[in-house]
Amino acid sequence: MLRLNPYTELAYHSKACKPGCCFVAISGLQTDGHQYISEAVRNGAKTVVVEREVDVPRGVAKIVVEDSRDALARLSAFHFNEPTRELTLVGVTGTNGKTTVTSLLSHIAKQAGLSSGLLGTLHTPSGRTTPESYDLQKIFRNMAAGGATHAFMEVTSHALQLKRVTGCHFNGAVFTNLSRDHLDFHENMENYFSQKARLFRQHLVVSEKKNLWAVINADDPYGRTLAGDLPARVWLFSQKGGAEISLQGAAAAWEGLKLEVKTPQGTVSLHSPLKGRFQVNNLLAAVAASLAMEFPMEAITAGIASFSGVPGRMEAVPNGRKNKIVVDYAHTPAALENVLEALRELNPERIITVFGCGGDRDRGKRPQMGKIASQKSDILVVTSDNPRSEDPQKILNEILGGVQPGTEKYAVADRRAAIARALDLAKEGDCVLIAGKGHETYQEIAGEKRLFDDREVVREILDRGPRTKDQGPGTRD
Ligand SMILES: Nc1ncnc2c1ncn2[C@@H]1O[C@H](COP(=O)(O)OP(=O)(O)O)[C@@H](O)[C@H]1O
Ligand SMILES: [Mg+2]
Repeated sequence: MLRLNPYTELAYHSKACKPGCCFVAISGLQTDGHQYISEAVRNGAKTVVVEREVDVPRGVAKIVVEDSRDALARLSAFHFNEPTRELTLVGVTGTNGKTTVTSLLSHIAKQAGLSSGLLGTLHTPSGRTTPESYDLQKIFRNMAAGGATHAFMEVTSHALQLKRVTGCHFNGAVFTNLSRDHLDFHENMENYFSQKARLFRQHLVVSEKKNLWAVINADDPYGRTLAGDLPARVWLFSQKGGAEISLQGAAAAWEGLKLEVKTPQGTVSLHSPLKGRFQVNNLLAAVAASLAMEFPMEAITAGIASFSGVPGRMEAVPNGRKNKIVVDYAHTPAALENVLEALRELNPERIITVFGCGGDRDRGKRPQMGKIASQKSDILVVTSDNPRSEDPQKILNEILGGVQPGTEKYAVADRRAAIARALDLAKEGDCVLIAGKGHETYQEIAGEKRLFDDREVVREILDRGPRTKDQGPGTRD
């Protein structure tokens, strides 16, 4: 066991160091903590944990470890007195559906009279879906101190590879699905999958808790591979049948979903205000996990009936026009395909899709999303998402490279003008989908975050009234 000078505080950010603290130098995606040791010592660090030989001033203890990220995670769990031992901790991973499933579970837990904490894209101070290990343990300590008995967290593949959840004691884990994303970080699907699988094959295994469980999407090929060799009690869910939690029937409408679901406790009818058939998987995952935690069926059905959804996921923007306007967070090829198929099933006259792709991220998915959007929409308005440091026009061109010939398409780099264009084109009965940014309230362009909220912009444009001839760009491509 690591023997440390008695230290006052633990820090991985040199600016957070206080007199007597222990500074752990971790290498980040952009920078490396080893470069900030002198600043950490200036701010009072008396112990530094490093991954390689570095000089430290006299009187400062130096501990060289193989993996300082692993060390930070274990030290943080110890420092905050292992809060996840006191919580029923559930991790949800998968390319899409993490925020929806964790939010659903937290809502159902409350319906069951339990106090639960939620950690994910919409609920972290840093805006990072899975915070750094130190921040994570601190949040869990605060949750436990606040009386929470359960905690539901989104676990990203980045977090698993960067040891952020090391030191967490999970009770259960959910696998929603796996499809192309983050290949800029993982390079290939095998690596991406093997990182996701660590939640089940490593973190569930080392957890000292009893009755560990895993909920897995049996319709997903990666899910089936995963389910094959796990020590935990596996609950499979499926829309195709043959699983413990199986869909028997479903009806999708604008008002929501009606499902018949076979469970070990018999077949239940579920009514959910969530829009879109792809949400069926999220609901089945929530039912399976709730049963694994032995929540009463009444709380499950009532929780699902009263869960109105997550901001920016199939969020309908009320408007006085006779067409539907939907804002969704779909930013992967699979998510965009699922959302467009779900909207088509609701029989709009036409689907007009506004979307872009993020800069400094997985470029390979751009032409794929262009292709899917053109195949499943009637009109396309390709625009900017968060270009970050990349040239917005270059991203547009890469997306347009995948768009099917003959598609009615517009390329409008300015996102506000693109949304105005789509709303202008929309006729009675049409559905305008604005995809990619969902709940985000900013747009990141050239390293600068500017206020931008798709829903707000729609409202502003609608309030402004119909566009006059000489207003704005919008080249028909
Ligand atoms: N089960 C699912 N299968 C496929 N796509 C989904 C699913 N759930 C949500 N999506 C799509 O992914 C987007 C993000 O959903 P979210 O629950 O926030 O997932 P995550 O947290 O994994 O990013 C949604 O706006 C929707 O377009
Ligand atoms: Mg999320």
